[in-house]
Amino acid sequence: MPIAKVDGVEIEFEPGMSVLQVAELAGKEIPRFCYHERLSIAGNCRMCLVEVKPGPPKPQASCALPAAENMEIFTDTPMVRKARHGVMEFLLINHPLDCPICDQGGECDLQDQAMGYGRDDSRYADNKR
Ligand code: FES
Repeated sequence: MPIAKVDGVEIEFEPGMSVLQVAELAGKEIPRFCYHERLSIAGNCRMCLVEVKPGPPKPQASCALPAAENMEIFTDTPMVRKARHGVMEFLLINHPLDCPICDQGGECDLQDQAMGYGRDDSRYADNKR
């Protein structure tokens, strides 16, 4: 079985697994919105970004990237954190700030992910639609 490194720890994985699945095998939590193991891969939300080597010097969507032998996967680098902050900031541009009247009643994945991976301010100062 092929071997990859996730945050410096070697892990064996089955051929055909995605980078996201390999990272989870190594016990890493990768935030995601559009990925579900029973659905086809959309790769739209970009929340699952990680850094991989060898690869281009930019974050990659881990759900849509097949893992490869000797790949190095980094799940918590400054580049990855900055990318996740950007995705959360963009997703929340027009999200209302009135959680108490929402149907979810506080049981909200978006809220959890915003707390875990977002930032506490936004560069978008315009009124929300
Ligand atoms: S989980 Fe949405 S792009 Fe990977």
